[in-house]
Amino acid sequence: WGLTADEAGRRIAGFRQMSGGSLNVNYPMWPEPRATAEMAEAMRQHLQVHYDAKGLGSVPAPRGKAGDVTPEHLAMLLDVKPDVVSFHFGIPDSATIRAIKAAGIFIISSATTVAEARLLEASGVDAIIAQGTEAGGHRATFSGVDMTMQAGLFSLLPQVVDAVRVPVIAAGGVADGRTAAAAFMLGAGAVQMGTAFLRCEEANVQPAHRRALAEATESCTVVTDLISGRPARYIRNKLLDDLVDSGLKPLPIPMQLSLTLPLGQSGDREMTPLFSGQSATLARHTSAADLVQALAEDALRRLRAFA
Ligand SMILES: Cc1cc2nc3c(=O)[nH]c(=O)nc-3n(C[C@H](O)[C@H](O)[C@H](O)COP(=O)(O)O)c2cc1C
Repeated sequence: WGLTADEAGRRIAGFRQMSGGSLNVNYPMWPEPRATAEMAEAMRQHLQVHYDAKGLGSVPAPRGKAGDVTPEHLAMLLDVKPDVVSFHFGIPDSATIRAIKAAGIFIISSATTVAEARLLEASGVDAIIAQGTEAGGHRATFSGVDMTMQAGLFSLLPQVVDAVRVPVIAAGGVADGRTAAAAFMLGAGAVQMGTAFLRCEEANVQPAHRRALAEATESCTVVTDLISGRPARYIRNKLLDDLVDSGLKPLPIPMQLSLTLPLGQSGDREMTPLFSGQSATLARHTSAADLVQALAEDALRRLRAFA
């Protein structure tokens, strides 16, 4: 997110120089962020004490643009034709979806409820990610459903599989062969993993975040919108607790992130947004290739043994 169409096009060209593999371009969708001056000022004043403690100077004015497939991005996509375009937090307008589909590009989007999955299928997506509450990263919710009422993957996945005809991709807590095999048993056509890859050596994760992931337990994470402006799952730390205690509302995404992310640059675990799902401890592999290889072999072995 935040890239111009030219910047995204250059990154895609760079990827293709380094790899002949398939490419998935992902767009998180959010409206133009708007915050009142009072709201922004209250959040800036609250965070100033942490900026002072880290010698970061004044809290900057919050920044951020809409997350969307602009006409420039659409033209770029139709030109470079990635294998897959995926969306998080809903999908763009139907004309954009039609244009992407007409170019032969496979479209994926995430759902956190059966109703969201049905909406996505009706909009013409080719596959749906069923994201359980275990998942790391942002909740993909786009229908305003209460976070506390959303289901874990074990409940959500078979219900989404029953509700739609398109393939369903399981996300949330899948981190090894066992969890992948379970997802396939529940009707998934594929799995998507996030947290497990955070622990791989290739991941662009700060040392403090890496240490927190290594020390994580099954019950050390919280879902909150206070770090970024949208609900996401994090390992609990002082920054998170302090924002909860403040009683303040976050600024809209990505404005809130533009204020909280700089605090992590100090390398302090307590001030870094520690994105994590509930299954960080399951992934112990050190390279992404090893993780995928081991997971595929183990899942297959388990499914064969079961059959
Ligand atoms: C640090 C992090 C960043 C993520 N960023 C994105 C993103 O930009 N777009 C997206 O579609 N999903 C994103 N995800 C969500 C994952 O695609 C997926 O739903 C989730 O990680 C699956 O659960 P798991 O973390 O238990 O594997 C992110 C996940 C993590 C952990």
